Amino acid sequence: MIHLSKLQLGELKDYNWAAYFRENARRQPVIEFTAEQYLTKKEKALIFPSIKMFQAGEASEGKHLLKMVEQYVKKSKEKAYLEAMKGFVAEENRHSYYLTRYMEYYGVKPKKKIALDGWFRALRKLGRLRGEVMVLVTAEIIALSYYQALAACTKSRVLKRICRQMLHDELRHLAFQSDTLYRLGSSSAQETYRIFLMQMTIWAVWPYIGKVLKAGGYGYWHFYRESMRYLRQSMRIARCGSV
Ligand SMILES: [Fe+2]
Ligand SMILES: [Fe+2]
Repeated sequence: MIHLSKLQLGELKDYNWAAYFRENARRQPVIEFTAEQYLTKKEKALIFPSIKMFQAGEASEGKHLLKMVEQYVKKSKEKAYLEAMKGFVAEENRHSYYLTRYMEYYGVKPKKKIALDGWFRALRKLGRLRGEVMVLVTAEIIALSYYQALAACTKSRVLKRICRQMLHDELRHLAFQSDTLYRLGSSSAQETYRIFLMQMTIWAVWPYIGKVLKAGGYGYWHFYRESMRYLRQSMRIARCGSV
């Protein structure tokens, strides 16, 4: 697990997220296949089912999320926050694009409908901005362990490069969305809900990503503990506004 203090973001209330997303958009990884260590049949069977799931999950246009943010910004007058959230959605879509490129190279077609992704999207739309962000942060936390494991379970250079970028970005997403929860206000009832949501999600995703996690060095309880530690960091930010 990586502690968010290593990101050196300083006081989050002073952090310019809109500028960060603008800058980060200029630092894109070069996805270059010339030195690719071609995957074996076994490796392909191991990684692509869950890569398809993440490719679909990262592709959300965030319509409901941006609508909720617009409503929030009308009241709070934090215009930069809307720009930041648009930058965040664009960044997630770039993640989907990296995975699409990788799948295309190996002739793997994206899946249009993924049950778990549909369930996540429905859950996100249930609540207003806070509800949506709570679900999003949960997914960011799952992604952190997943991309860490994915990088470790093959020799593919391109995949390792993509995962490195994902980890860089997702750690900051975790801080960004936790900062959103701080702006919206946190309570102990919400923390209880977040713990429950995290535990349910870990349990629900394991059948889909457990093989990659295991190949990358994570047993179920290792994955569980790491996720709960990330959640504790997120709840701390949501409570006091700093890492
Ligand atoms: Fe992502
Ligand atoms: Fe993310």
